[in-house]
Amino acid sequence: MKYAIDARSVTKVYGEGDVAQRVLEGCDVQVPHGEFMMLVGPSGSGKTTLLSILGCVLRATSGEVRLFGEAITGVPENHLSRLRLSYIGFIFQGHNLLASLSAEDNVAVQLQLRGYPTKEARREARALLDRVHLAGKYHRRPAELSGGERQRVAIARAVAGAPPIILADEPTASLDAANGALVTELLRELARERGHTVVCVTHDNRIFSLADRIVRIEDGKILADHRERAA
Ligand SMILES: Nc1ncnc2c1ncn2[C@@H]1O[C@H](COP(=O)(O)OP(=O)(O)OP(=O)(O)O)[C@@H](O)[C@H]1O
Ligand SMILES: [Mg+2]
Repeated sequence: MKYAIDARSVTKVYGEGDVAQRVLEGCDVQVPHGEFMMLVGPSGSGKTTLLSILGCVLRATSGEVRLFGEAITGVPENHLSRLRLSYIGFIFQGHNLLASLSAEDNVAVQLQLRGYPTKEARREARALLDRVHLAGKYHRRPAELSGGERQRVAIARAVAGAPPIILADEPTASLDAANGALVTELLRELARERGHTVVCVTHDNRIFSLADRIVRIEDGKILADHRERAA
């Protein structure tokens, strides 16, 4: 099995009939194990849609997607959510935290879903929050955190329990330079040192140099694929 993510001829059409809108057209994306890939392109070009399909959040209209060799297209819904849990950590554009839970609980719940007993889940959740510089804010609910802090909780949650594939939708958008660098370094370290496969959507040209490869999408089509892995 060569690729962590192997998507072929992926097409997505939203809506039906007169309102049908084709937003992805024949997209091929192959991501080797342990690669840190960035996906770039204009607003509305289909980045979130493609990421959601790779992350088992959304189904492709046609085409085939394999994660670690296992086909995810056409599998039943309950199986899809199991695949998502075992393979994917998703950092959503706009974070998606549970409003009624503290930062710590948002992360701990994810760990418990991944099989951690309660006590270990708490300990690990705090360690992850420490890594994104949120020590001391464990008990804050999302509404009591700044946008950038919420984003960092979402990142801690996505990497909790070490899912092999991490998909990040503009993870640095609401962060200042220092925290943006912190988060990008964390994602890169997960790829380089721990073998995670990371796909990161970004507009942030400050972080391009950290990628192994930059893939460009425009108007629902994959345009360019620059190999940028340093020697
Ligand atoms: N649920 C939906 N139903 C119908 N159309 C949608 C839906 N979600 C997205 N679209 C449309 O699909 C196109 C691609 O959207 P997508 O969110 O993938 O773009 P994006 O590249 O992530 O943009 P941005 O950089 O602004 O986040 C857009 O034209 C958008 O309006
Ligand atoms: Mg988007």
